[in-house]
Amino acid sequence: MLTVNSIAGVRQQIQSWRQQGRSIAFVPTMGYLHAGHLSLVEQAKLQADKVVVSIFVNPMQFGPNEDFDRYPRTLNEDSAKLQGVDADLLFAPPVEEVYPLGHSAATRVEVPGVSEGLCAEKRPGHFTGVATVVAKLFNIVQPDMALFGEKDYQQLQVIRRMVADLCFAIEIIGVPIVREFDGLAMSSRNSYLNDAERNIAPQLYQVLKQTADTLAKGARDYIRLEQAGLADLKTAGFEPEYFAIRQAELLTAPHEDAAKLVILAAAKLGQTRLIDNLELSL
Ligand code: PAJ
Repeated sequence: MLTVNSIAGVRQQIQSWRQQGRSIAFVPTMGYLHAGHLSLVEQAKLQADKVVVSIFVNPMQFGPNEDFDRYPRTLNEDSAKLQGVDADLLFAPPVEEVYPLGHSAATRVEVPGVSEGLCAEKRPGHFTGVATVVAKLFNIVQPDMALFGEKDYQQLQVIRRMVADLCFAIEIIGVPIVREFDGLAMSSRNSYLNDAERNIAPQLYQVLKQTADTLAKGARDYIRLEQAGLADLKTAGFEPEYFAIRQAELLTAPHEDAAKLVILAAAKLGQTRLIDNLELSL
């Protein structure tokens, strides 16, 4: 696996692969890699000749009181894990390479609609930061396809919208959520949980599953189900941010005869914010 830190270095390698007629898949990450990230790389290996992974903790997508400074940076371990799944190129730029004039004054990509509500409620500007950095990374790597986890469901829809609206010639592939043995969605932030919080954490997925079961049995009182989900999360010890039943992909309020729904939740355990979701066809 090659590791490069500069945009010029990536462009050079990509150009040489293009001259050899190779197809290229791209997996953007913020590092501190776990099995969820590695499943994206494994999927990518099946889809393209060469797989590029980026590790960049993007300051533009963190709010002023969020965990940008303490977000784990473990480049050596990450690099070993990527070699283990046979990634071809790791792009790990310093912040100045991506935002030479700082990120505050940089050009931004705003994606209306799907960027609003849910996670954006408590994280204003977050999806603008995500869309901006992903657009920049797409322009640097210029892959044929890019893979994103369904764990960050709203993020995946924001990227799909941006790619359609800005005519990026990149196929976006969503990859299913990888979970711990007890159902907790794998996340770099799970490491912030203490033992007591870690024991509570899997209940986020349990409440999503209960709600999905109730919907599958024919319940359609979405508002009441959302309230029940919030109450169940509180009882379990979470401080919930939202528990929402939406039209899959569009993230709009669902019709009573909706065929495909997604249940999304965000909840805090102490200082740690967890998100999860469950898609279901009726
Ligand atoms: P990060 O949180 O590092 O996640 C990188 C990718 O891994 C995302 O596509 C995310 O959805 C996926 N992922 C994380 N946990 C997963 C799990 N348990 N199962 C499956 N996929 C999982 O998401 C970001 O970084 C950033 O916002 C980024 C897109 C890199 C832009 O900065």
